[in-house]
Amino acid sequence: MAKAKSRYVCQACGSVTPRWQGQCPDCAEWNTLVQEAAEVTSIFAAKHNLQGGGRRIDLVGLDAPAALPERIVSGVAEFDRAIGGGIVPGSAMLVGGDPGIGKSTLLLQIGAKLAEVGRHVVYVSGEESAEQVRLRAIRLGLGKSPVRLAAATSVRDILTTLGDGEAPDLLVIDSIQTMHSDLIEGAPGTVSQVRASAQELVRFAKEHGAAVALVGHVTKDGTIAGPRVLEHMVDTVLSFEGERSHQYRILRALKNRFGGTDEIGVFAMESEGLTEVPNPSALFLTQRGEPVSGTSVFPALEGSRPVLVEIQALTVRLASGATPRRAAVGWDSGRLAMILAVLEARCGLSFGTTEVYLNVAGGYRLTDPAADLAVAAALVSALSEKPIPSGAVILGEIALSGEIRPVAHAPLRLKESAKLGFEQAWVPKEVKGGDGISAAHFANLRALVDQILGR
Ligand code: TYD
Ligand code: MG
Repeated sequence: MAKAKSRYVCQACGSVTPRWQGQCPDCAEWNTLVQEAAEVTSIFAAKHNLQGGGRRIDLVGLDAPAALPERIVSGVAEFDRAIGGGIVPGSAMLVGGDPGIGKSTLLLQIGAKLAEVGRHVVYVSGEESAEQVRLRAIRLGLGKSPVRLAAATSVRDILTTLGDGEAPDLLVIDSIQTMHSDLIEGAPGTVSQVRASAQELVRFAKEHGAAVALVGHVTKDGTIAGPRVLEHMVDTVLSFEGERSHQYRILRALKNRFGGTDEIGVFAMESEGLTEVPNPSALFLTQRGEPVSGTSVFPALEGSRPVLVEIQALTVRLASGATPRRAAVGWDSGRLAMILAVLEARCGLSFGTTEVYLNVAGGYRLTDPAADLAVAAALVSALSEKPIPSGAVILGEIALSGEIRPVAHAPLRLKESAKLGFEQAWVPKEVKGGDGISAAHFANLRALVDQILGR
């Protein structure tokens, strides 16, 4: 009899190696390889079923393109926006995020909203008892909503029960890592179990036209399989992000077979659950009153949505010859060092004996190089103790030469800034002013420094 072979599967990315190793050769995560028994049923067979066997279909000869079934609009506008306008019936979604970020809360609220307008919603929790979920629903003010709640971890039980009745419009599985398929050996949470369970649930969704939302915890330590091993199996991958210590949460589509991936939904976690934030700038701009030195405002973009964020800098001159600290929160520290170097080399400023702290307000993370100029302005303003006018927004990318380069989507950013009462934009020379907002042009960083210092 053939011996059941064992293999080592990375719980972060799903790659398989025959021997144990400390580091995954594929995704380079440490301590994520776990011994698993070889799979007993062929995953390929299951996939085959999903894709309709070997039937040949001519692409060109197809009749009128099969129109996408009408999307189910949840009524939670920020969610609908992120997934491209509503839930596609029969589609599979994966909602990933750190534990405790609010995935269960989000899906319970969306489920409740749909159930209230007569949709058939089933919420299966493998993490909490049905009673706990019910109590949470009551706490969220959704106690009267006709969502069907169940606590279960066996995929066979879930599908048998669902198969008997009318298929739901939305099936929420919270979380996929607690589910167990008896087609395969292994503990819940391992890569093979997570994959096999997801495969069965996705197949059910496709066959019955039910949309399924799988919750997937993201873990860094590899104790349970990460959602990445499922990304290719689902139609839509959503990531729910945010800092746990801050209120705001962003729902972002990382993959979407039925829509774009550049839209986001913004929520705030409050005591009565997640509330929608239709105007995210209000969240990240601290109360603007008298201008203070060391702050600047940058019109960031999230997908196609402008979000105004405040950048704060603090400089502390050291008396002794100790090595000054540089710390950045919400901004890349390498890029901070680069901007400091350009300020020193091209503009004659000295940060050599000065500690520099940079913070993006509200826990927001900026990666857009278009924020370079606003970061530089905050630094110069902090160093010189000269405030930036409170009615100005700043955008532009800084080259090593000190030149200021144009940025993408400037008109959109300026429009949002004007809407929020900003009157002036400090911008590269290519950018034109707009309705209600004038442009002050800067060709290079020295010109900006001169402006702030009043030279
Ligand atoms: P939860 O949805 O359980 O997170 P996940 O399913 O992603 O693990 O949310 C957990 C956190 O949200 C918890 O720390 C408490 C907070 N929370 C609120 O602040 N307000 C609320 O109304 C609810 C339900 C949760
Ligand atoms: Mg949860």
